[in-house]
Amino acid sequence: MKITAAITGVHGYVPDYILTNEELSTMVDTSDEWITSRTGIKERHILKGEGQGTSVMGIEAVKGLLAKTNTKPDEIDLLLCATVTPDYVFPSTANLIATACGLGHVPSFDLGAACSGFVYALTIGSQFIETGKYRKVIVVGADKMSSIVDYQDRTTCVLFGDGAGAVLLEPNADGYGIVDSKVYSDGAGVQHLYQKAGGSKYPPTLETVQNREHFARQEGQAVFKFAVVRMAEVAAEIMERNQLTSEEIAWLVPHQANKRIIDATAQRMGIGPEKVMLNIHKYGNTTAATIPLCLWDYESQLKKGDNLVLAAFGGGFTWGAALVKWAI
Ligand code: ACO
Repeated sequence: MKITAAITGVHGYVPDYILTNEELSTMVDTSDEWITSRTGIKERHILKGEGQGTSVMGIEAVKGLLAKTNTKPDEIDLLLCATVTPDYVFPSTANLIATACGLGHVPSFDLGAACSGFVYALTIGSQFIETGKYRKVIVVGADKMSSIVDYQDRTTCVLFGDGAGAVLLEPNADGYGIVDSKVYSDGAGVQHLYQKAGGSKYPPTLETVQNREHFARQEGQAVFKFAVVRMAEVAAEIMERNQLTSEEIAWLVPHQANKRIIDATAQRMGIGPEKVMLNIHKYGNTTAATIPLCLWDYESQLKKGDNLVLAAFGGGFTWGAALVKWAI
């Protein structure tokens, strides 16, 4: 009998501080009207305070997940954290979260696939369950985008927010869980979306800081076009190879980068807006956290057996989709 990795719990965390479109309008030349109509975003949560990294939010999400699922920390076999804003270059943010949550010497590592990070991490985490290697795996998506956003650049600073979401994966013999997934990458996308300095190619110097090269930069329109095509393409591929019609999909769970990208993807898949998870208006783009935060927000509306298609596109470029049969 085939074993699948079922999602048996989901939890999320967003910091208290809310940065509204109105406040952003006092920082850069923008307006609530422009941001709302071009992106669908009204506000985003920001993690404030010195020494507060992405792990702070991941820890909250994982502690809540353990409590909610009545799981003891020492039962966890593996923790993965998808992020592009790790606390440190090393050690990994996953190491920090695992230790702070009392998981002992559990294996843990970070995964960098930008906005597709959660779909990538889910794909990898589920393999350990399917092979029988592990029985309880936590997959976290967490990003403190405010740490790499240039609040002088109106073309990017309106888009992003901070947050974390986490799921627990456990074996299932009845076909619930991650039924299928497909992920892709194209490194040629680096020219359209990247953070230039801070890595080994351009280590930090006075000049890189003065030139504001430690912030995320993107060619919005180019990214927009790739995102619409690739997200719909991979979601359709997942539907086709699992012989699912749009009527049989209960929910599309899209990465929350721009409401216009989400609408276009849903339209290409033939899925009506009533079946599309949406929380971009209150969180903005939280990169690896958007999909688990959607699952957390919509949890009470999900029914056992619902077919969910998760779809994401992000820096790299990376993109991917997963078919999840809801298990709880
Ligand atoms: N407020 C007011 N005006 C603005 C703002 C702003 N915040 N930002 C840009 N503008 C202006 C531009 O300067 C431009 O003015 P011009 O016509 O005088 O030159 C005008 O608005 C239109 O700009 P466009 O770039 O054409 O606007 P567009 O409709 O494409 O929206 C946006 C821009 C929101 C960035 C969109 O392209 C987008 O969402 N792209 C994809 C972003 C994305 O998905 N990123 C993904 C992942 S990130 C990751 O992986 C970490």
